[in-house]
Amino acid sequence: MFSAPSQPPWYQSPLMKAARREPAERVPVWLMRQAGRYLTEYREIRRRMSFLELCKNPNLSAEVMLRTVERLGVDAAILFSDLLLILEPMGMELEFTGDGGPSLRNAIRRPADVDRLGELSNVDALEFVLETVRKTRAGLDQELPLIGFAGAPFTLAAYAIEGGTSRDYRLTKTLMITEPGAWDALLSRLARAVARYLNAQIDAGVQLVQLFDSWVGCLGGDDYRRHVLPYTRRVIEAITPGVPVIHFATGNPALLPSLCEAGGTVIGIDWRIRLDDAWRAIGYDRAIQGNLDPVVLLTSPAEIRRRAGEILAQAGGRPGHIFNLGHGVLPQTPVENVLALVEAVHDYSP
Ligand code: CP3
Repeated sequence: MFSAPSQPPWYQSPLMKAARREPAERVPVWLMRQAGRYLTEYREIRRRMSFLELCKNPNLSAEVMLRTVERLGVDAAILFSDLLLILEPMGMELEFTGDGGPSLRNAIRRPADVDRLGELSNVDALEFVLETVRKTRAGLDQELPLIGFAGAPFTLAAYAIEGGTSRDYRLTKTLMITEPGAWDALLSRLARAVARYLNAQIDAGVQLVQLFDSWVGCLGGDDYRRHVLPYTRRVIEAITPGVPVIHFATGNPALLPSLCEAGGTVIGIDWRIRLDDAWRAIGYDRAIQGNLDPVVLLTSPAEIRRRAGEILAQAGGRPGHIFNLGHGVLPQTPVENVLALVEAVHDYSP
């Protein structure tokens, strides 16, 4: 007789069970941007230092997330860091401006600029992120999983090209369409960097990883398939086997079948599609994460409970649903409303 090797306590957590589509005692819930400016404790820390200084301080970054998880009673912690930090050691000049938005001063505009974004041959320059992973894991309840994350190649490329957030992604799409060689070089390099970075987070102690393709919804299906899918697939195929990957995108639910083709153990959806329609499109052989509109958290506990109930009813008690918002918590959100949501999901039984 062989006995199964003993697994750490988080292995049987509701979230890890949902990622494996196993029945669990409750529907797990965590929120994108669960640690952020809507929390007074967070604003307190941010009065003393900039966002980038905070991200580069592993003790404080770990503490921010640990205190948030304790306060909210959510079913997972996510690494406290930022999507764009990986671009710094690759050669981009990153800053967060007064209004909180990111800005990259030496944006990539022409094919000749692509080599300004160097190969991330090792993750030494991101050691502070790995230290945050180790410190968060060490301080976190053993029953709770820690989620690592990175931006998907398209979303990172969009930031590197636009130099910040954009309304129409005009520069990104133009380069993508008119300069296929430069686009391939750029996305290939980002795909290698992201895979290396996520695997380093896994070695440092995260239990699953989320790939954020936050801006890919600006594309139509043919462009996604031609210019994005192959690179995202490369990242997901390179992730340490056995570690669940949450593949998240926003903006265009028509991309869902193609996102699935790129890969992911769990597909993260936004609110623009009903959860039951999305799960049907994705297929029941995959887990799903989502999808309350973050704006609902600005309303009232009664409305939040009603809307959460609708989403839970659409999931229908099927194993494999991780409750989340369709995108990050807004800074204007009252914390009582977040607590009401977590309670509503935990109280639910199908
Ligand atoms: O709580 C968590 O979710 C963990 C930490 C986390 C942050 N950013 C902290 C943060 C995570 C997972 C991210 C991911 C991230 N960062 C994404 C993908 C998710 C998404 O929203 O689509 C993106 C696009 C970024 C880039 C980024 N960082 C933007 C566009 C901004 C400014 C806009 C905003 O909402 O503030 C940030 C800043 C940022 N990242 C803050 C935090 C807590 C606020 C910084 C501050 O304190 O001023």
